[in-house]
Amino acid sequence: MESGLDGHTALALLRWQIELGATEAIGDTPVNRYEAEPPRPAVPAAGPQTPPRPDLPPPAPEVDPVEVAHAAASAARDLDALRAALGDFAHCELKKGARNLVFADGNPAARVMVIGEAPGRDEDIQGKPFVGRAGQLLDRMFDCIGMGRAAPAAEKALYITNILPWRPPQNRDPKPHEVAMLLPFVERHVALVDPDVLVLMGNHSCGALLGRKGITRLRGKWGEALGRPALPMFHPAYLLRNPHAKREAWHDLLMLQARLKETP
Ligand code: URA
Repeated sequence: MESGLDGHTALALLRWQIELGATEAIGDTPVNRYEAEPPRPAVPAAGPQTPPRPDLPPPAPEVDPVEVAHAAASAARDLDALRAALGDFAHCELKKGARNLVFADGNPAARVMVIGEAPGRDEDIQGKPFVGRAGQLLDRMFDCIGMGRAAPAAEKALYITNILPWRPPQNRDPKPHEVAMLLPFVERHVALVDPDVLVLMGNHSCGALLGRKGITRLRGKWGEALGRPALPMFHPAYLLRNPHAKREAWHDLLMLQARLKETP
């Protein structure tokens, strides 16, 4: 707008107004603020975020991971498809921290399917279940009754998997929501392998498949899981820490052997 003031005078006037306390330049034409656009809702200030509580499951997501898992697992027509479906399953946080998916090892024609808890460090590195110290003990235990994961004959063979296919950080215990969302894959895994009996290694495997924990009471007694005979046993990692319990483990292996002989 033309004012007729020279630049120096205009600047001097502006400085003087600032000294008087003016903080805003207003236009020549008045504005009716009541007719102006309503103010936009204030965006909440990006204050400090509440950190997630590690002892609680994460807030309810929009999709139900258990339903997603059910749909993906039941669509798998064979073990390769099931492995691929697990690999594509994006709802379990454990996957992000793991190096490898640990699906299974052994002979899928086996009469006996062993179900452990979750991969540890060695399993995570190699992508195979029970390959660390506990796994080596497991191999020696079954070798004592003439069985092993490399056996070609179904009656001598083992097929081995875990409840969780990804290593939990620092080998912590599986959380209930992790077990719940991965259980549909375990159920489908068992259905596809179709073993005669299940061996449930340790408390978490029993909790997930029998709905009960307390391995000291459960071990050595046949139960039923997913419609099949299931034998809870001490986990080999427990036997490494408590070698005196190997006596009970030997008893349980003989029970398994007897059962397999009874029902050829
Ligand atoms: N313990 C388990 O339960 N599973 C493994 O694969 C290794 C250790």
